[in-house]
Amino acid sequence: MPERSPSEMFNVAASSYDRLIGRYAGRLAEAFADAAGIAAPQRALDVGCGPGALTAELVRRLGADRVAAVDPSEPFVAECRRRNPGVTVQLGAAEALPYPDDAFEAALAQLVLHFVQDADAVGSELRRVVVPGGIAGGCVWDFTGGMRVLRAFWDAARAIEPDAPDETNLHFGNEGEIGRQLEASGFRDVEAGALDITGEYDDFEDLWAGFTGGVGPSGSFCMSLPEERRAELKAGLFERVGSPEGPFSLPARAWYGLGRA
Ligand SMILES: C[S@@+](CC[C@H](N)C(=O)[O-])C[C@H]1O[C@@H](n2cnc3c(N)ncnc32)[C@H](O)[C@@H]1O
Repeated sequence: MPERSPSEMFNVAASSYDRLIGRYAGRLAEAFADAAGIAAPQRALDVGCGPGALTAELVRRLGADRVAAVDPSEPFVAECRRRNPGVTVQLGAAEALPYPDDAFEAALAQLVLHFVQDADAVGSELRRVVVPGGIAGGCVWDFTGGMRVLRAFWDAARAIEPDAPDETNLHFGNEGEIGRQLEASGFRDVEAGALDITGEYDDFEDLWAGFTGGVGPSGSFCMSLPEERRAELKAGLFERVGSPEGPFSLPARAWYGLGRA
């Protein structure tokens, strides 16, 4: 597969993102915000906000004027602004957050750490923008099996193309990695665990449309295949998600890590 940078993989329409991952993101945001104990009157930052699922959850808990969001993808920044009126959404990366020191009581990165270029820089930036005693951390999919649709996708991909990239190899794809990074970045009281949610599908075509939008590593791989190979991938994926007829749901697990600055 031709290498695509995170900025290329996420320079896509928010509607495509919604079909693949966005359908899970709202529920994950609620679980992650619960784990982080997000409550008024905190000020909170959504790092790598995408179209804004976690931003919306933070707004629901804190109000738009106490929430900020940042992402390097222009279409996602525009969509996050549209979906979250009153929130200041900036273009920028987690490695160089465009905020002063001690600006927030909480800074959270949902499904972002896989894609950052420099995890140490992100750790120090999270620590810098959060007040002493404030909370920061991230959550990422469990690619070892808990995030069922992506695991099934990569198993199907490997069956037709043994060299297919597998997101398990992205950093932070395994249990405990976020907690270890937070400790290395000087956070204390580090806590780690799993967040379990489900995603709902109208039918298998609804699931497949998520991949043909070309979003992220899986969508990029899917659209890099010639049509015939893509049809084989589709058949393999259909089997691996249980050959569903009509509506169905799939479980999804994310690992999270949180620490105090
Ligand atoms: C899977 S999406 C998650 C979006 C959103 N947080 C959510 O939960 O729906 C990954 C996001 O990370 C962003 N991203 C990629 N590299 C980044 C970086 N270095 N710093 C911050 N965000 C980054 C992408 O633009 C994309 O919006």
